[in-house]
Amino acid sequence: MSETLASDAELAIRRMEDVHADYVRMRDWLNTPHVREWWDPDLPPHTIEKVVDEYRQCTTGESSTVACFITVDGVDTGFVQFYPWADDSDFQDQVGMALPADAWGLDVFIGETRYLRRGYGRRAVALVCAHLVAAHGAAEVDLVTATANPRAQATYVAAGFARVAEYLDTDTKNGERMLSWLMRWVPADTGG
Ligand SMILES: CC(C)(COP(=O)(O)OP(=O)(O)OC[C@H]1O[C@@H](n2cnc3c(N)ncnc32)[C@H](O)[C@@H]1OP(=O)(O)O)[C@@H](O)C(=O)NCCC(=O)NCCS
Repeated sequence: MSETLASDAELAIRRMEDVHADYVRMRDWLNTPHVREWWDPDLPPHTIEKVVDEYRQCTTGESSTVACFITVDGVDTGFVQFYPWADDSDFQDQVGMALPADAWGLDVFIGETRYLRRGYGRRAVALVCAHLVAAHGAAEVDLVTATANPRAQATYVAAGFARVAEYLDTDTKNGERMLSWLMRWVPADTGG
Protein backbone atom coordinates (compact mmCIF):
# COMPACT_ATOMS: atom_id res chain seq x y z
CA MET A 1 0.00 0.00 0.00
CA SER A 2 1.63 3.25 -1.04
CA GLU A 3 1.75 6.31 1.21
CA THR A 4 -0.88 9.00 0.64
CA LEU A 5 0.64 12.43 1.26
CA ALA A 6 -2.45 14.57 0.70
CA SER A 7 -6.04 14.18 -0.40
CA ASP A 8 -9.13 16.20 -1.23
CA ALA A 9 -12.36 14.25 -1.78
CA GLU A 10 -11.75 11.80 -4.70
CA LEU A 11 -8.31 13.25 -5.46
CA ALA A 12 -5.15 12.01 -3.73
CA ILE A 13 -1.40 12.39 -4.01
CA ARG A 14 0.38 9.11 -3.33
CA ARG A 15 4.08 8.33 -3.41
CA MET A 16 5.33 6.60 -6.56
CA GLU A 17 6.68 3.23 -5.46
CA ASP A 18 9.75 1.22 -6.37
CA VAL A 19 7.61 -1.38 -8.15
CA HIS A 20 7.47 -2.47 -11.80
CA ALA A 21 3.84 -1.42 -12.27
CA ASP A 22 4.57 2.20 -11.32
CA TYR A 23 7.57 2.40 -13.66
CA VAL A 24 5.48 0.91 -16.51
CA ARG A 25 2.72 3.43 -15.95
CA MET A 26 5.26 6.25 -15.86
CA ARG A 27 6.88 5.06 -19.10
CA ASP A 28 3.52 4.88 -20.83
CA TRP A 29 2.51 8.37 -19.67
CA LEU A 30 5.86 9.89 -20.64
CA ASN A 31 5.43 8.43 -24.14
CA THR A 32 1.88 9.83 -24.53
CA PRO A 33 1.92 12.61 -27.17
CA HIS A 34 0.32 15.37 -25.07
CA VAL A 35 2.88 14.79 -22.27
CA ARG A 36 5.83 14.31 -24.61
CA GLU A 37 5.04 17.62 -26.24
CA TRP A 38 6.27 19.42 -23.11
CA TRP A 39 8.21 16.85 -21.04
CA ASP A 40 11.68 16.05 -22.46
CA PRO A 41 10.40 16.58 -26.04
CA ASP A 42 13.85 16.25 -27.61
CA LEU A 43 14.71 12.94 -25.93
CA PRO A 44 14.03 9.55 -27.55
CA PRO A 45 10.94 7.61 -26.35
CA HIS A 46 11.24 6.42 -22.78
CA THR A 47 12.09 2.81 -21.96
CA ILE A 48 11.51 0.98 -18.67
CA GLU A 49 15.26 0.92 -18.06
CA LYS A 50 15.50 4.68 -18.48
CA VAL A 51 12.50 5.38 -16.27
CA VAL A 52 13.84 3.11 -13.51
CA ASP A 53 17.22 4.76 -13.83
CA GLU A 54 15.71 8.25 -13.59
CA TYR A 55 13.15 7.68 -10.82
CA ARG A 56 14.52 4.93 -8.57
CA GLN A 57 16.40 7.41 -6.39
CA CYS A 58 13.09 9.22 -5.79
CA THR A 59 11.07 6.08 -5.06
CA THR A 60 13.67 4.76 -2.62
CA GLY A 61 14.08 8.09 -0.81
CA GLU A 62 17.73 8.61 -1.84
CA SER A 63 16.84 11.86 -3.61
CA SER A 64 15.26 14.96 -2.06
CA THR A 65 12.84 14.95 -5.00
CA VAL A 66 9.53 13.32 -4.03
CA ALA A 67 7.83 11.57 -6.96
CA CYS A 68 4.08 11.01 -6.68
CA PHE A 69 1.10 9.77 -8.63
CA ILE A 70 -2.14 11.73 -8.76
CA THR A 71 -5.08 9.40 -8.16
CA VAL A 72 -8.79 9.96 -8.73
CA ASP A 73 -11.04 7.51 -6.89
CA GLY A 74 -7.95 5.31 -6.56
CA VAL A 75 -7.16 5.36 -10.30
CA ASP A 76 -3.65 6.51 -11.24
CA THR A 77 -4.17 9.49 -13.53
CA GLY A 78 -0.99 11.56 -13.48
CA PHE A 79 2.32 12.47 -11.96
CA VAL A 80 3.64 15.26 -9.76
CA GLN A 81 7.10 15.66 -8.30
CA PHE A 82 8.35 18.24 -5.85
CA TYR A 83 11.79 19.24 -4.59
CA PRO A 84 13.63 21.89 -2.58
CA TRP A 85 15.15 24.37 -5.02
CA ALA A 86 18.16 24.66 -2.68
CA ASP A 87 19.25 21.22 -3.95
CA ASP A 88 19.20 22.40 -7.57
CA SER A 89 21.57 25.34 -7.50
CA ASP A 90 23.13 24.12 -10.78
CA PHE A 91 19.87 24.77 -12.60
CA GLN A 92 19.47 28.17 -10.96
CA ASP A 93 23.04 29.10 -11.96
CA GLN A 94 22.50 27.94 -15.54
CA VAL A 95 19.34 29.99 -16.07
CA GLY A 96 20.45 32.93 -13.89
CA MET A 97 17.75 32.56 -11.25
CA ALA A 98 18.18 33.02 -7.47
CA LEU A 99 15.48 31.56 -5.24
CA PRO A 100 15.26 31.69 -1.44
CA ALA A 101 16.50 28.73 0.58
CA ASP A 102 12.99 27.66 1.59
CA ALA A 103 11.54 27.71 -1.94
CA TRP A 104 10.18 24.45 -3.33
CA GLY A 105 9.50 23.47 -6.93
CA LEU A 106 7.09 21.11 -8.65
CA ASP A 107 6.40 19.54 -12.04
CA VAL A 108 3.11 17.97 -13.05
CA PHE A 109 1.24 16.19 -15.81
CA ILE A 110 -2.05 14.37 -16.20
CA GLY A 111 -1.07 11.20 -18.07
CA GLU A 112 -4.51 9.67 -18.67
CA THR A 113 -6.08 11.70 -21.48
CA ARG A 114 -9.65 11.04 -20.30
CA TYR A 115 -8.85 12.92 -17.08
CA LEU A 116 -7.61 16.08 -18.82
CA ARG A 117 -9.54 19.37 -18.48
CA ARG A 118 -11.54 18.16 -15.49
CA GLY A 119 -9.82 20.36 -12.92
CA TYR A 120 -7.50 17.65 -11.62
CA GLY A 121 -4.29 19.40 -12.72
CA ARG A 122 -5.28 22.61 -10.93
CA ARG A 123 -6.47 20.77 -7.81
CA ALA A 124 -3.40 18.53 -7.65
CA VAL A 125 -1.08 21.55 -7.86
CA ALA A 126 -3.03 23.38 -5.14
CA LEU A 127 -2.98 20.26 -2.93
CA VAL A 128 0.79 19.84 -3.32
CA CYS A 129 1.40 23.54 -2.53
CA ALA A 130 -0.59 23.22 0.71
CA HIS A 131 1.30 20.00 1.54
CA LEU A 132 4.66 21.72 0.95
CA VAL A 133 3.77 24.44 3.44
CA ALA A 134 2.33 22.05 6.04
CA ALA A 135 4.92 19.27 5.81
CA HIS A 136 8.07 21.05 4.65
CA GLY A 137 7.64 24.68 5.75
CA ALA A 138 7.85 25.94 2.17
CA ALA A 139 7.79 29.75 2.02
CA GLU A 140 6.92 29.72 -1.68
CA VAL A 141 6.59 27.36 -4.63
CA ASP A 142 8.36 28.29 -7.87
CA LEU A 143 8.20 26.56 -11.22
CA VAL A 144 9.37 27.11 -14.74
CA THR A 145 6.93 26.57 -17.60
CA ALA A 146 7.25 27.21 -21.33
CA THR A 147 5.76 30.52 -22.53
CA ALA A 148 4.39 28.50 -25.48
CA ASN A 149 2.38 26.22 -23.14
CA PRO A 150 -0.75 28.27 -22.30
CA ARG A 151 -2.57 25.20 -20.97
CA ALA A 152 0.04 24.75 -18.23
CA GLN A 153 0.12 28.48 -17.44
CA ALA A 154 -3.68 28.55 -17.13
CA THR A 155 -3.49 25.60 -14.75
CA TYR A 156 -0.92 27.30 -12.54
CA VAL A 157 -2.79 30.61 -12.55
CA ALA A 158 -5.97 28.73 -11.59
CA ALA A 159 -4.01 27.19 -8.68
CA GLY A 160 -2.92 30.63 -7.48
CA PHE A 161 0.45 31.14 -9.22
CA ALA A 162 1.56 34.40 -10.81
CA ARG A 163 4.08 35.00 -13.59
CA VAL A 164 7.30 36.53 -12.22
CA ALA A 165 9.91 36.75 -14.99
CA GLU A 166 11.05 35.07 -18.20
CA TYR A 167 14.07 32.78 -18.38
CA LEU A 168 15.60 30.39 -20.89
CA ASP A 169 15.02 26.88 -19.51
CA THR A 170 17.82 24.32 -19.86
CA ASP A 171 15.27 21.91 -21.43
CA THR A 172 15.19 22.08 -25.21
CA LYS A 173 12.45 21.72 -27.81
CA ASN A 174 13.49 21.23 -31.43
CA GLY A 175 17.04 21.89 -30.27
CA GLU A 176 16.27 25.31 -28.78
CA ARG A 177 16.23 26.14 -25.08
CA MET A 178 12.62 26.92 -24.20
CA LEU A 179 11.67 30.46 -23.28
CA SER A 180 9.79 30.00 -20.02
CA TRP A 181 7.93 31.81 -17.29
CA LEU A 182 9.09 31.55 -13.73
CA MET A 183 5.76 31.30 -11.89
CA ARG A 184 5.37 31.67 -8.13
CA TRP A 185 2.82 30.72 -5.49
CA VAL A 186 3.00 32.10 -1.95
CA PRO A 187 0.73 31.07 0.91
CA ALA A 188 -2.08 33.59 1.42
CA ASP A 189 -1.12 34.38 5.01
CA THR A 190 2.40 35.51 4.04
CA GLY A 191 1.22 38.13 1.61
CA GLY A 192 0.44 36.07 -1.49
C1 LIG B 1 -1.06 21.15 -17.79
C2 LIG B 1 -1.97 20.02 -17.31
C3 LIG B 1 -1.31 19.37 -16.08
C4 LIG B 1 -3.31 20.62 -16.91
O1 LIG B 1 -4.10 19.62 -16.33
P1 LIG B 1 -5.69 19.59 -16.48
O2 LIG B 1 -6.19 18.71 -15.41
O3 LIG B 1 -6.05 19.23 -17.87
O4 LIG B 1 -6.08 21.12 -16.22
P2 LIG B 1 -7.36 21.63 -15.43
O5 LIG B 1 -8.57 20.91 -15.92
O6 LIG B 1 -7.07 21.59 -13.97
O7 LIG B 1 -7.43 23.12 -15.93
C5 LIG B 1 -6.77 24.15 -15.24
C6 LIG B 1 -6.97 25.43 -15.97
O8 LIG B 1 -6.37 25.38 -17.27
C7 LIG B 1 -7.33 25.66 -18.27
N1 LIG B 1 -7.03 24.81 -19.39
C8 LIG B 1 -7.09 23.45 -19.42
N2 LIG B 1 -6.75 23.01 -20.66
C9 LIG B 1 -6.50 24.13 -21.40
C10 LIG B 1 -6.11 24.36 -22.75
N3 LIG B 1 -5.94 23.32 -23.60
N4 LIG B 1 -5.90 25.62 -23.16
C11 LIG B 1 -6.07 26.66 -22.33
N5 LIG B 1 -6.46 26.51 -21.03
C12 LIG B 1 -6.66 25.26 -20.58
C13 LIG B 1 -8.65 25.34 -17.66
O9 LIG B 1 -9.68 26.09 -18.28
C14 LIG B 1 -8.45 25.72 -16.22
O10 LIG B 1 -8.60 27.10 -16.02
P3 LIG B 1 -9.87 27.63 -15.19
O11 LIG B 1 -9.81 26.96 -13.85
O12 LIG B 1 -9.64 29.10 -15.14
O13 LIG B 1 -11.05 27.19 -16.00
C15 LIG B 1 -2.22 18.97 -18.42
O14 LIG B 1 -2.77 19.63 -19.54
C16 LIG B 1 -0.99 18.22 -18.87
O15 LIG B 1 -0.63 17.23 -18.28
N6 LIG B 1 -0.31 18.71 -19.95
C17 LIG B 1 0.86 18.05 -20.51
C18 LIG B 1 2.09 18.17 -19.65
C19 LIG B 1 2.41 19.60 -19.26
O16 LIG B 1 2.32 20.52 -20.06
N7 LIG B 1 2.79 19.74 -17.99
C20 LIG B 1 3.21 21.02 -17.45
C21 LIG B 1 4.62 21.23 -17.76
S1 LIG B 1 5.23 22.70 -16.97
